Amino acid sequence: MTLPNGVERREFDGRESLATDGPTVSDEPSIGGWRRWNPNRSKVGAMLDHGMEHGLSGGETVLYLGAASGTTVSHVADFAGPTYAVEFAARPMRDLVGVAEDRQRLFPLLKDARKPESYAHVVEPVDLLIQDVATRGQAEVALANRQFLEDNGRLLMAIKARSEDVTADPETVFDEVVATLEEGYEILDRQRLEPYHDDHLGVVAVPNTDG
Ligand SMILES: C[S@@+](CC[C@H](N)C(=O)[O-])C[C@H]1O[C@@H](n2cnc3c(N)ncnc32)[C@H](O)[C@@H]1O
Repeated sequence: MTLPNGVERREFDGRESLATDGPTVSDEPSIGGWRRWNPNRSKVGAMLDHGMEHGLSGGETVLYLGAASGTTVSHVADFAGPTYAVEFAARPMRDLVGVAEDRQRLFPLLKDARKPESYAHVVEPVDLLIQDVATRGQAEVALANRQFLEDNGRLLMAIKARSEDVTADPETVFDEVVATLEEGYEILDRQRLEPYHDDHLGVVAVPNTDG
């Protein structure tokens, strides 16, 4: 799978890594304006590194759920178009606002992703929905936000097994979450995100036309 425009493999300290072209965040490595995108710190980075069927070409309009302090969404905003970043915790939001100060296309929203009606007046239809909320009810959050996704848009989602059930077998949890997700999406690709993220599943999906 080719990388979206604006994402390249570059060499850092003799090792090849994904990178995006943009202003640095904290003390991350950057060479010639290209920032290292560390898959150990980013589920989307791990999904691209694993060659998942992302279908992205760059320049997409994005709704990102679970932005935290902006580690991943900063890279996304480097290669995408307008990027709406939803995060409900005030503390990481402060860092996210700092990250957005350097990025004209990144719009932080202090909102609860389980309540899409609270930001529906701000967010335009998007080509790409990214979700990394690590909370119980991950499929339900993706279904509730499907309304923002264009018919030919894509969902890139990280599912954290332990957020649904700490004791259950992760594969059982993944099957259950994916089955619920299929109420509104057609799954194109699913891959475990090891070795970067234990007990996480990466999912690429498109909205069901009959959903
Ligand atoms: C695993 S972290 C996200 C890391 C981030 N995606 C990255 O790669 O840089 C999950 C984040 O989702 C946020 N979150 C969880 N449930 C949420 C909800 N219902 N609405 C908005 N944010 C939520 C948490 O506060 C946390 O910051």
